[in-house]
Amino acid sequence: MQMIHDAGVVRLEVQDAVAILIIDNPPVNAGSTAVRAGILACLAKTADLDLAGVVILGGGRTFIAGSDIREFGAPLAAPELPQVIAAIEDSPHPVCAAIHGAALGGGFELALGCDLRIAAPDAVMGLPEVTLGMVPGAGGTQRLPRLTGIADAIDLVCSGRRVKAPEALRLGMIDALAQSSEVQDLIVAAISAIREAPHKRRLRQETMPAVDIAALRAVEEKALRRGKGRPNVAEAIALVKLSAEVPSEEALAKERASFQSFRLQEEAFALRHLFFAERAATRIDGLNAEPAAISRVGLVGGGTMGQGICRAVLAAGLPVTLVERDAEARDKAQDAIGQALDGAVAKGRLDADSAVHRKALLTASDDMADLADCDLVIEAVFEDMAVKKELFTTLDGILKPGAILATNTSYLDIDDMADGIARAAEIVGLHFFSPADIMKLLEVVRAKNSSDRALATALAFAKTLGKQPVVARVAEGFIGNRIYAAYRRHAEYLVEEGASPEQVDRAATDFGFAMGPFAVGDMSGLDIAWQMRKRQAETRDPATRYVDIPDRLCEAGRFGRKTGGGYYDYDAGKPQPSETATRIIHEARAEKGITPRAFTTQEVQDRLLGAILNEAALVLSEGVAARPGDIDVTLVHGYGFPRWRGGPLWWASGQPVERVATMTDATASAAGAGFATAEVETVLAPMRADRQEIEQRKSGHA
Ligand code: COA
Ligand code: NAD
Repeated sequence: MQMIHDAGVVRLEVQDAVAILIIDNPPVNAGSTAVRAGILACLAKTADLDLAGVVILGGGRTFIAGSDIREFGAPLAAPELPQVIAAIEDSPHPVCAAIHGAALGGGFELALGCDLRIAAPDAVMGLPEVTLGMVPGAGGTQRLPRLTGIADAIDLVCSGRRVKAPEALRLGMIDALAQSSEVQDLIVAAISAIREAPHKRRLRQETMPAVDIAALRAVEEKALRRGKGRPNVAEAIALVKLSAEVPSEEALAKERASFQSFRLQEEAFALRHLFFAERAATRIDGLNAEPAAISRVGLVGGGTMGQGICRAVLAAGLPVTLVERDAEARDKAQDAIGQALDGAVAKGRLDADSAVHRKALLTASDDMADLADCDLVIEAVFEDMAVKKELFTTLDGILKPGAILATNTSYLDIDDMADGIARAAEIVGLHFFSPADIMKLLEVVRAKNSSDRALATALAFAKTLGKQPVVARVAEGFIGNRIYAAYRRHAEYLVEEGASPEQVDRAATDFGFAMGPFAVGDMSGLDIAWQMRKRQAETRDPATRYVDIPDRLCEAGRFGRKTGGGYYDYDAGKPQPSETATRIIHEARAEKGITPRAFTTQEVQDRLLGAILNEAALVLSEGVAARPGDIDVTLVHGYGFPRWRGGPLWWASGQPVERVATMTDATASAAGAGFATAEVETVLAPMRADRQEIEQRKSGHA
């Protein structure tokens, strides 16, 4: 290799009459201004060289993971990406993108601007801009449909999904796969592709593949349904369709203008906030330990959660030993997991070989001694302190030295649970959400004595499972359930005061929540919280406001969906307003002498959000959560808070101070005696400062 030019984050070498342009901008080769300028400078150097072609390669672990997301909030500096892609198209040499790791967003658009695309077998690619509140801005909506057809392009652009290289090959997104994922094999494959097809292609000028109208309609409807009315989704569809309607110059200009507009809108800022908050949440400041290697996971308890966690671990390719109380419960759990895997195959979500492989990774047992070789054991037995303590004592004597012991408890005090256990340093909380193989959130609970190694292992394990971790300290309900409980309590106040469950739920879904609090309550079952309230009845402060409507529903046998009724009646699984529930609510109000009053949708939303904000601020001030962003990530990933609003704290930081004060005051006065009022503005201050900086950068003043 001969070095021809070094532009810092991009350099140019020549090997066998092929120029290799290497991007080296760790950690993920984000396409920053410097990278774009470097590519242009290096390309310019190739113009006069006698070459068979040019290969663009990512140095380090990836191709280009995308344009630098940090640059999207301000005026973009020249050269912009379309200019770089135009230079690739105008190069006299054929240019081949050699993709390993990830080619996403602007990274994949750059690859689409090349004449050829070769990928390592384990590479991923796609256009995730829509998931960041934008549309692709450098030709993605125009060049991709020329390779895949319009229908597949709409699906790819609107879902933003990451496509693995073999599928990308099938869809036409790339020309060939390299022999292996070794960089040398990738370079060899790219060079031979250039030698086999030594001409310019200029994708944007190619004719469009024929359109299958029925497939197009179906995919469009699906994209709009999944896009839940987000305006950038409809715009992305229109842009892709434009590829068949007008000359590419015109369509590219239209795409760029849309991108420039969407990237500076509130939604895009909210989604970028979450992008960085999600990554920050995977870290604990000052943590100083390497994670332990996990080659076998143990699970105790094969009920709802145990089975779900088991499915999640098997999906990550790790062997599991599942222990139940007796042979009958053991077989039941193993059968249920097997049936769930078969069901996934029947629905086309899993291929038959993978199901066989996952089943083979599972060992079910009724003997705790079988957990002796596990590196991490998670308990998901009954939510009962005595049962969990006894189990911990037993496991402490069985597990190998250094094995991590995790509890999936929802509410119990983990410090108490770990008290007296010799391996207290190895104990952490791993609070999964139901269904555990689907829900992305995983609260990692840091107990008083949890070691750095145990925490580092828990965070690494979350990554292995593809979960979004958030670290919480020990507290009733940790971060998520605690905030959700305040929200749900407040929803009950509203109903007691005169709103109907339907109105409260509609206000929540109008705001963007996936479901309203009462529909959620009916779905998870009202009886569990009822049992808990009965246990707490003796110690409850009689001065605090207590709504007895859910108790009355349970006393009437209305536990929710599973009993055919709760706040709603269920007809073939669909919730319907319930006369019985309405009567029960009327009776409860009448007994307290409450005259029902009317609420506007905004009033309901403000009171619900006020409750969330106040509790979130308490959780932060008590140190249960470390950063405001962690609260946003928790509510978005675990509780159906609308992602496009960036989480409750980010959303609130965009509201006037007076409005937030009115909301939290209304919440406090409705709650009455004993309500702990938090310093919400103190918590919002860093985000308000970020927003101010954003405004300045948007107008180019910083
Ligand atoms: N722009 C700016 N920074 C980026 C980035 C981008 N497009 N992609 C990743 N980063 C940063 C992350 O914020 C993180 O920074 P930090 O270490 O300071 O927190 C670092 O790069 C590593 O990213 P991370 O996601 O933690 O690494 P990973 O190895 O788990 O995953 C990727 C690598 C490429 C799969 C992942 O980073 C990714 O999906 N990036 C998103 C790319 C994207 O959406 N691009 C489209 C933009 S339109
Ligand atoms: P579950 O009743 O469905 O399952 C508990 C299982 O544990 C049963 O199969 C039981 O046979 C088994 N078990 C009990 N004692 C045992 C022992 N000593 N040894 C081996 N097996 C034993 O309960 P679940 O809903 O799966 O909840 C389990 C735990 O997960 C609880 O701590 C709960 O608070 C927590 N959790 C539940 C949810 C949820 O939505 N259900 C969500 C997060 C966390």
